[in-house]
Amino acid sequence: MTGKIETVGIVGAGQMGSGIAHVAAQAGYKVKLYDLSEDRIEAGIATISGNMARQVSSGKMEDKLRQESLSRITPATRLDELADVDLIIEAATEDETVKRKIFTQLCPLLNPEALIASNTSSLSITRLAAQTDRAERFIGIHFMNPVPVMKLVELVRGIATEDYTFETARSFVESLDKTITVAEDFPAFIVNRILLPMINEAIYTLYEGVGSVDAIDTAMKLGANHPMGPLQLADFIGLDTCLSIMQVLYEGLADSKYRPCPLLVKYVEAGWLGRKTGRGFYDYREDPPVPTR
Ligand SMILES: NC(=O)c1ccc[n+]([C@@H]2O[C@H](COP(=O)([O-])OP(=O)(O)OC[C@H]3O[C@@H](n4cnc5c(N)ncnc54)[C@H](O)[C@@H]3O)[C@@H](O)[C@H]2O)c1
Repeated sequence: MTGKIETVGIVGAGQMGSGIAHVAAQAGYKVKLYDLSEDRIEAGIATISGNMARQVSSGKMEDKLRQESLSRITPATRLDELADVDLIIEAATEDETVKRKIFTQLCPLLNPEALIASNTSSLSITRLAAQTDRAERFIGIHFMNPVPVMKLVELVRGIATEDYTFETARSFVESLDKTITVAEDFPAFIVNRILLPMINEAIYTLYEGVGSVDAIDTAMKLGANHPMGPLQLADFIGLDTCLSIMQVLYEGLADSKYRPCPLLVKYVEAGWLGRKTGRGFYDYREDPPVPTR
């Protein structure tokens, strides 16, 4: 048995929240997009609008669908505006304290039937679910970045997630034309368990002076056939998110092989978080971007 999803509430209008809003609205769902300030919601909607315009100009979307999709997205400046949604997708900053606070504030406002999903890249779904009043209606729906482009979605059940929740989430994700892999609830699931240690090792390779930013990215693009270098990819993901995932792996698996590289910590402490802040391993204020080391 699966439930009917008509309206989706998205918490966090950053890279991922705006991408999820994009694909959900495009698939016909009504979307309410919430973030901490009107400015951030507006920036998220502007990103969606720009990306949809690009899809139209490249012939991947009809202009009529673009207009209809955008009209299905409503900004929500207060959490209580999400009270009537069928599904919440939490896509706020990768910080367990932030996410826990959101669930504590949100749960009493929601319809008891509503499902809650987290787009967390690494945090325990079981532990997040336990912060809510509905662990059986809680699931991990892990989209990849950029959401409109990437085909994969990882579905992650917490220990208490009911079949009903899993099947409803599965049919929702399939309706977005995505391919599902199911991952068990262990730190960073499948994709990031494999990807992030590789990125962290690339940062160690830079830190230890084995190669420059350019040498490392060129080596992995041309030598391992990766479409993007690992440092370019780290900037794309967001260095704060990369560091959080490495910390979750390090602490969650209690193994020193996941120790976050001190250079990654330094970049995050500097506020050099990658593309989203204009500077990371590359400086995006220049065109083309210039390596920072
Ligand atoms: N970046 C990636 O490649 C990627 C891929 C898959 C999943 N994720 C996950 O998606 C989530 C969001 O990542 P992102 O890359 O979009 O980050 P981001 O920094 O682009 O966006 C995070 C957004 O959350 C908002 N936020 C913070 N606290 C909030 C609160 N209390 N209420 C509402 N909004 C709040 C911020 O204002 C910001 O707009 C994280 O859990 C991350 O691990 C990221």
